[in-house]
Parts: sequence; C-alpha cells; structure tokens
Amino acid sequence: MSKEYKIAVVPGDGTGPEVVAEGIKVLETVADKYGFSLKFTHYPLGGDHYRATGEILSDETVAALTASDAIYLGAIGHPDVKPGILEKGILLNLRFHFDQYVNLRPVKLYEGVDTPLKDKGPEDIDFVVVRENTEGLYAGAGGFLKRGTPDEVAVQESINTRKGVERCIRYAFEYCRKRDKAKKLTLCGKTNVLTFAFDLWERTFNEVAKEYPDIETDYAHVDAICMWMVKNPEWFDVIVTDNMFGDIITDLGAMIQGGMGIAAGANINPEGLSMFEPIGGSAPKYTGKGIINPLAAISSAQLMLETLGEEKAASAIEAGVIKVLRDDIKEVAAGRMGFTTKEIGDLVVEYVQN
Ligand code: IPM
Ligand code: MN
Repeated sequence: MSKEYKIAVVPGDGTGPEVVAEGIKVLETVADKYGFSLKFTHYPLGGDHYRATGEILSDETVAALTASDAIYLGAIGHPDVKPGILEKGILLNLRFHFDQYVNLRPVKLYEGVDTPLKDKGPEDIDFVVVRENTEGLYAGAGGFLKRGTPDEVAVQESINTRKGVERCIRYAFEYCRKRDKAKKLTLCGKTNVLTFAFDLWERTFNEVAKEYPDIETDYAHVDAICMWMVKNPEWFDVIVTDNMFGDIITDLGAMIQGGMGIAAGANINPEGLSMFEPIGGSAPKYTGKGIINPLAAISSAQLMLETLGEEKAASAIEAGVIKVLRDDIKEVAAGRMGFTTKEIGDLVVEYVQN
C-alpha cells in the first residue's frame, strides 16, 4: 500500500482558490509519479463563508483539521470584512492553535526572474528566514484604558518566553545545518533598544550556538538587516528573528526575490500539524481574472512535501518552477506573466511529469 496523506485545503478568500487549485494539480501529478497519494478535504473558511454563516473558525472545523497531515491555505482577507477579524480569527488562530512555532520563508531569486536590486543575481539572493510564529507582539497581550477619550492609553506587549525563543532558535540551527550551504545563522534583533526581549533572544542564541560549532553565527539589528538585504543579500544564509520583525523583513525578502507571485511560506510545528501558504494576500483586485501568479502557492506545496518527507517529489516541483521561470514566464507580477494562472499551473504539471 502506498502512503496516503490527508491534506486539509483552505482556499480562503480572493485569489486564494485560484492559486490553490493550481497547487493541487501539481501535487496530484507528483504524487502519481512518486508513488504516494493525497486525500484533499476542502474547508470553506474565509470572508464569504463568514458573511454567509457567521463562522470564523468553529471548534468542529478545528477538530476536523486536527485529523489531517497538513493544511494547504490560499489567502485570508476580505474587502467587506473589517481588517483583523479574519486574519486573527482564522490565520493567526490556526498558527497558534496548532503551535506552528516556525514560519519558514525562503528568499530565493530564480534564474530568469527580475530583482529590483541592481547588479544582484541568483547567486546573491538565496537565504531563508526563520520567523518565530506564536509569540512576540502577535500574542495579543495588552489592552486599552479609557478608550476613545483624550486620556486613552493603548498597550501592546511583546511576549517572549525562554521556551518559545529557544525552540525557534534551535530549529534555525538545525535547519541551517541541514541546508548545508554557507552554514551561517544570523540573529536579527534590536538589542540596542529592546533590551529585555532581545536580551533573552541573544542569550538564548549564544547558548544554543555552543551545541552547533559547525555553524557560524552573526548578529544584526533589524534596521541594519533591511539595509543589508538590499545592499548585500549574499551575506545571508539563514536568518532567525521574532514574529514582528520576521513579518516585516519577509515582505522585503519577497520583493528582492521577484515579488509576491513567487514568495512561499510554511507554518511549521515540527512535532505536529503544519500549514503551508503563499506569503501574499487575497489580492481582491485580481480576483476571478485568472491572472494571478500561482507559483507562490505551488512552491508552498513544495515546502509541504519537504516537511512531510517526500523530498524527491518536492525537488521535482522546484525543478518545474525553475523551468517555468527560466523558459516561459515573462514577468512574475499578476497580469504580466504572458500566461493565465491556469496555463502556468499546466506548464508546471507538464514539466514535473517529464
Ligand atoms: C503574513 C501576514 C499575516 C501576518 C497577517 C495577514 C496577519 O502579513 O503572513 O505575513 O502578519 O503574519
Ligand atoms: Mn506579513
């Protein structure tokens, strides 16, 4: 009997369903070719479902998702729903509930893709950001005093636990070792101002580093990281950072690798259920036009197979993505690809078949 994986699919809002459909096509193709099977179950979570039923994310849905081997998500965010409701209620809720404490975001410039960085090419832009994914400013700690009055106070605290910081840092060291490239791990923080939170990060980083003598370590403040990512991206191999800084620098990363159209991400619980999603949002203005780039979703499917241990199938997907980017696609940006969403998916399917 071949191995079967149960994949929970949350296409979500906007262009999410369009890109996820292409990812599923590619996944089915590699599953066939590499001798495993995938059982997809769709969950209609998102803005339309919320407006129609009132459900954001019910306990029943969470229980059903728990029975799966991975979650494949398109995009969450709806123009007619107040910002934050769906993002917090679905996306962050899933990350927190399943304790997906690592947000893994590769920043890799493929051949044939334009970067806005002058004089930089694929040999210069190839690193991975390990973003802490369950704590920091995202923990939701804080509140208001005298809201709406002239004396209003708003407090939003960054929660950093030794356990949470250490497991993320340890994952980054392990990942850096397994990746086996420059074997350099950079801690991205702000030790000159955030003298409590990043003191904990730095101490933990230095302690864990002792267990990894084969990994070179480095530190940079987050503002300097933004500068170096533009000026000298070749300095980076793996970067580890907190939730908020990771959110910000990975949007910058997505731009230098060619755009949201190819920026993939994984929310990983190494001991539990992980979730895979493109970094980009629901892109309402492109919805239903068939012009959005599905490669970010397809590369997220690649990360899913890597995490499930189907390395060969994952590499086949990457090879297909590489070929499409090198030989076919004009530009990464939606509407300027020279192909429709579906045509790009079909090309990747064709390439992974052969
Ligand atoms: C991301 C997104 C989310 C985040 C939003 C939609 C809550 O920007 O995945 O990076 O801030 O983590
Ligand atoms: Mn973000």
